Amino acid sequence: MRISIASDHAGFEQKQLLAQYLRDGGYEVADLGPDSDDRVDYPDFAEAVARDVAAGASRFGVLVCGTGIGMAIAANKVRGIRAANVVSAEFATLSREHNDANVVTLSGRFVSPDENRRILDAFLTTPFGEGRHAERVRKIDAID
Ligand code: RB5
Repeated sequence: MRISIASDHAGFEQKQLLAQYLRDGGYEVADLGPDSDDRVDYPDFAEAVARDVAAGASRFGVLVCGTGIGMAIAANKVRGIRAANVVSAEFATLSREHNDANVVTLSGRFVSPDENRRILDAFLTTPFGEGRHAERVRKIDAID
C-alpha cells in the first residue's frame, strides 16, 4: 500500500520518524517533503499530499505540523479528501470506521512519537464501517 507523507518545519522531526516507521512496516512511502526543518508553509505540503490521495496515487495521506490543525484545514480543500486531525488511537479508529478518512493529520509538538505510531497503526488497519455511515459520507462528498 502506498502512503504519501509530508510535514512543515514543526512536524519535520516526527515526519522523518513516522516515514521510517511506515517503511519498516512494509508500506511504500512517498515522502513529499520537506527535506529539512527550515521554515515552510504547511498548506503547500498539505495540498501535495491531498492531491496524491485524491488522484489515487496513494491510498492514504499522513501530514504532520505543530498541531495537525492547519494541515487538516488545508487538505480538506481538495475535492475527495476527508482529512481528520487525530490525537489518539481511538479517534484514529473512529475516523476510519465512521468517516472513511483518507488523510490523517498529526501533531508533531503536542503528541509523542509513540502515540503517533499507535495512531498510524489504528488508522491504516481499520476499515470503513459502511452501513449507516455510508450515506453520511456520501453527503459529505456531495458538499464538494
Ligand atoms: C507553525 O508554527 C504552525 O502554525 C503549524 O505547524 C501548524 O501547527 C498549523 O496548524
